[in-house]
Amino acid sequence: MSVLPPTNIRLHSGIEVSIRAAELRDASGIGALISAVYENGEGTVSEANEFQWPLQSIQQSVEEHGSATNCLMLVAVIDSAVIGLLKFEAGAGRRVAHQGRFGLWVHPSNRSGGVGRALLSTLIGWARTTGIECIRLTVLSDATRAINLYRSIGFEIEGTCRREVKYAPESYADQIHMAPFL
Ligand SMILES: CC(C)(COP(=O)(O)OP(=O)(O)OC[C@H]1O[C@@H](n2cnc3c(N)ncnc32)[C@H](O)[C@@H]1OP(=O)(O)O)[C@@H](O)C(=O)NCCC(=O)NCCS
Repeated sequence: MSVLPPTNIRLHSGIEVSIRAAELRDASGIGALISAVYENGEGTVSEANEFQWPLQSIQQSVEEHGSATNCLMLVAVIDSAVIGLLKFEAGAGRRVAHQGRFGLWVHPSNRSGGVGRALLSTLIGWARTTGIECIRLTVLSDATRAINLYRSIGFEIEGTCRREVKYAPESYADQIHMAPFL
C-alpha cells in the first residue's frame, strides 16, 4: 500500500488544488478527465473514438495502484472534480523493480496552471522515499508543453522512435523516451 498524505497547492490562478492518491470515489471523474484529454488531442496517440477506459477498469486500476507498494495513482482535485491524473507503475520482476514508467494528463481547461508540475513533483518525492531509481516516460515530439515540463525538471532524452505516429500523409511525430535518474 502506498502511503501518501494529501497536499494542497495553489495554482498560478490562485485556485487551490488537492494532490492525493486516487480513491474509488474518483473513478468516474478520472473517466471524464481522460475523455476530455482525448477529445482535445494534445499529446495523445489514439484518436478520441479509438480510446476506451471503462469505469470498471478504472476502478480496478485505482484498487491495484492503491494496494501495491511500488505503484502510484495520483489525482489533482478541485472541489471533488478530477482535473489531473498521474499513473506510475514500477517494473513487475525483481530485476526491473527499481524503475518504472508513468503517464500524466491535465484537463485541457486547467493546463499551464501548475497542476502537471505539482503531480510530477509529488511522484518524484514519493519515488525517492520508495527506492525507485528512475522514472521513465514516452512523449510525442510535438507535445511541446510536456517536453518543456520534463526538461525543466531534469529529464533527458534516452532515445527516439522516429515517425512512430502518422497523422496524415507527410505529417508525422516521433516518440521520445525520457527519464531522470533520481
Ligand atoms: C503536459 C501536461 C501534463 C503539463 O501539465 P500543465 O499543468 O499543463 O503544466 P504546468 O502548468 O505544470 O507547467 C509546467 C511547465 O510546462 C511548460 N509549459 C506549460 N505550459 C506551456 C506552454 N503553453 N507552452 C510551452 N511550455 C509550457 C513550462 O516549462 C512549465 O513550467 P513553468 O510553469 O515553470 O513555466 C499537460 O499540459 C497535459 O496534460 N498535456 C496533454 C497531455 C500530455 O501531453 N501529457 C504528457 C504525455 S507524456
